[in-house]
Amino acid sequence: MVKENIARIIEEGKEAFALATEEMVFAELEKKYLGRKSDLSDILKGLKDLSPEEKREAGPLANEGRLVLERAAEEARTRIASFKLASEEHIDITVPGRKPAVGHLHPITRLTHEVEDIFSTLGFSVVGGQEVETEFYNFDALNIPSDHPARDMQDTFWIDSEGLDSQYVLRTHTSSVQVRYMEAHTPPFRIVIPGRAFRNEATDASHEHTYHQFECLMVDERGKVTVAHFKHIAEMFFREFFGRDVKVRLRPSFFPFTEPSFEFDISCILCDAKGCPVCKQSGWLEIGGAGMIHQKVFEKAGYDAGKYQGFAWGFGLTRLAMMKYGVTDIRLFMDGDIRFIRQF
Ligand code: DAH
Repeated sequence: MVKENIARIIEEGKEAFALATEEMVFAELEKKYLGRKSDLSDILKGLKDLSPEEKREAGPLANEGRLVLERAAEEARTRIASFKLASEEHIDITVPGRKPAVGHLHPITRLTHEVEDIFSTLGFSVVGGQEVETEFYNFDALNIPSDHPARDMQDTFWIDSEGLDSQYVLRTHTSSVQVRYMEAHTPPFRIVIPGRAFRNEATDASHEHTYHQFECLMVDERGKVTVAHFKHIAEMFFREFFGRDVKVRLRPSFFPFTEPSFEFDISCILCDAKGCPVCKQSGWLEIGGAGMIHQKVFEKAGYDAGKYQGFAWGFGLTRLAMMKYGVTDIRLFMDGDIRFIRQF
């Protein structure tokens, strides 16, 4: 009877250990078959109450059985440990990879490059300038004397210039580079001047204190560069920039540094000039100012009076970006919200 019991316990235990794959199950089995309160322990403890004959038979069997179970337990322990190791090291090749975060250029920077590329193919050179500029180059050199009401057109950030050689401002337009460039170069030349400009004014969806402009100049001897050149170059530029035919329209205007002066519009690229909310049903979009460079500006640069002629043209790159990407609030471009920038 005891003999059979021992044999049954051992068979059962061996099988259970052989099937165990988890630590928790193994711990239970160890308690059940090898613990102090296991059936086998009970049998061993009860040996003393058996007849000498039974004792002789059951004693060695029980001891041997315990060894068998200990061996089975040891095997199971090793196996479970190696399973665990394998599952910890397991590499799941179906898990989607993590993309490294790669930055990209700001949309305005990208557009600047695009505009520079287009003008380069038209034979223009790209020229830089300085954002902190003297009052002279920003205003006086452009035929905007200090008492002239035209100065009020541009709300200026004045820089405390006490003790400096000149009064400095944050340039209000890229036109400030015109005379700087002319002082160092003699026509003929064709240049573009991209850059930031600053206005000290209240901001809203269409006004921003910091924005990007583009200045374009083409100058040669008198009679060689006309308004027709400007119009043609403007049309070629916008065709390239928007990837479609665009008409340019000039309207008379006033700028102190050009004579004659124009505001110019392009046919609405959103509705093909049919009329939509963006062009306020007019079919035209206002783009910028232009004109034939005033002889006073050439004089400020030190050129001989009446010797040269050329056009100047300035437009807001930020505004073009808004049209190209359908952005309705100009402030988004410069307020540093990376969620906006990531969309481009
Ligand atoms: N500088 C002007 C502005 O910021 C734009 C402008 C108008 C530039 C006419 C030009 C020009 O070169 O000819 O409002």
